[in-house]
Amino acid sequence: MPLDTVTLRNGTTVLLKEFTLADKEKLFQTYESLSDETMRLGMPPYARERIEKGWLSNLQNLISIVTLFQNRIVGHSQIFRFPHSRRKGTGDLIIYVHQDFQNVGLGTVMLIKLLQLAKKDGMHRIALHVVADNKRAVHLYEKLGFKIEGFLRDSYFGEDKQDHQELAMGLILDD
Ligand SMILES: CC(C)(COP(=O)(O)OP(=O)(O)OC[C@H]1O[C@@H](n2cnc3c(N)ncnc32)[C@H](O)[C@@H]1OP(=O)(O)O)[C@@H](O)C(=O)NCCC(=O)NCCS
Repeated sequence: MPLDTVTLRNGTTVLLKEFTLADKEKLFQTYESLSDETMRLGMPPYARERIEKGWLSNLQNLISIVTLFQNRIVGHSQIFRFPHSRRKGTGDLIIYVHQDFQNVGLGTVMLIKLLQLAKKDGMHRIALHVVADNKRAVHLYEKLGFKIEGFLRDSYFGEDKQDHQELAMGLILDD
């Protein structure tokens, strides 16, 4: 995928590209630099070892994009394509935007791009789980066409030591 130049709502220009192994040190650094607030409703920690084992050793099953600003990764989003033949064309999605780049349109741009790539790749269903309290993320997913498909009661143990509900959301790309 060639570089896409995008100007965000605050006037900052960033570059969108497909993730390659050449970016891996930058990706580690980015996950190390995400704030507690950015991680509050996520699934931390994303330590180097977990990223290596879970993602980088599985690149053939990933559609993964990053956003660069001054040669740093400031956004990462990917779809894991389920390899089982009975799950053909389906996968699940994650996205993290660095705290200095949130709420200025980057998540929107990244997901539009990632979903375009997924469609091009022949995928038809993208799913995810999101903590119901993560209003910004839920808004973003709904804006892009994801529907709430179910509720996972008490499935997420928050840093507040309370159980929280998650939403199961899904998008059918051919719709
Ligand atoms: C969630 C996240 C990916 C969104 O990316 P982003 O770049 O901040 O999002 P955008 O600026 O593109 O869009 C945010 C949208 O949510 C809206 N929004 C912001 N705060 C909101 C809130 N509290 N409630 C509802 N909507 C909200 C914005 O108005 C905007 O909508 P609009 O484009 O219709 O005006 C990003 O904030 C992030 O990485 N958060 C921390 C990690 C995380 O939660 N990841 C998802 C885990 S499932």
